[in-house]
Amino acid sequence: MIHRMRDVIVAANWKMHTTPADAGELAVTIASRTRESAVTRVICPPYVALATVRDALANSDPDVGIGAQNVHHEAAGAYTGEISAAMLAGLATWVIVGHSERRRDAGETDERIGLKLGRATEAGLRAILCVGERAEERDAGAAEKVVEAQLRGALAAHDPAILSRAGLVVAYEPVWAIGTGRTALGSDAALMADAIRRTLVQLGWGSAAEDVPVLYGGSVTAGNIAEFLAEPTIDGALVGGASLKPDEMAGIVARASLTARARLAAS
Ligand code: 13P
Repeated sequence: MIHRMRDVIVAANWKMHTTPADAGELAVTIASRTRESAVTRVICPPYVALATVRDALANSDPDVGIGAQNVHHEAAGAYTGEISAAMLAGLATWVIVGHSERRRDAGETDERIGLKLGRATEAGLRAILCVGERAEERDAGAAEKVVEAQLRGALAAHDPAILSRAGLVVAYEPVWAIGTGRTALGSDAALMADAIRRTLVQLGWGSAAEDVPVLYGGSVTAGNIAEFLAEPTIDGALVGGASLKPDEMAGIVARASLTARARLAAS
């Protein structure tokens, strides 16, 4: 049973792809191929393309949310090359934090990711917190433990009421499924979504844990999204490679709209 009909979200993480010269056109094409009011759509281009994508979508499809792929954990200061939450004002309303590629390449710790969440929330950005185990951790039977520790490390210092009001989203992205063409089983992703919400309850979220959207990410395509959306505890997808392809996004959002409409009809 799901306690409330959570929104269905499809978020595109473009990673280090596109340029300001081509991002606007791609965003408009994807928006036009995914026009579906029941689904919350978000596009996260590179920082330097945020303004272009914002301007392009403002004229064509203002329903598409725009997200940054990262934000700095301090409000301001001597951090060469970094971007603060305040700098994103007017450019983005969403932000991805704690992506495994940043944990891996930028050494982001759970504690730092927690600080980022705080900055994002203070600035009115809706955060997508990424968690997920590595292959060896799953093989060792430790997947849930790893994800629980990531959640605790990032969330323990936060007031659940504030993050809940800010619309926190959790994306379960098993590292071994990212960019590999291998996906988790829908049933395993659903078990992890249960574990995520159980951890939130342990962290004091109470019934608000049931309102937190949990997305699946890792090699999602139009061809496999149905397996995840068949699970009532999964509320959408964070899409990498396929999010740069309008045909794939059209298929993913079309499938998501079936789930979104079924949930609306049931509520
Ligand atoms: P892929 O869909 O390319 O596997 O990437 C998933 C991801 O990391 C989204 O944030």
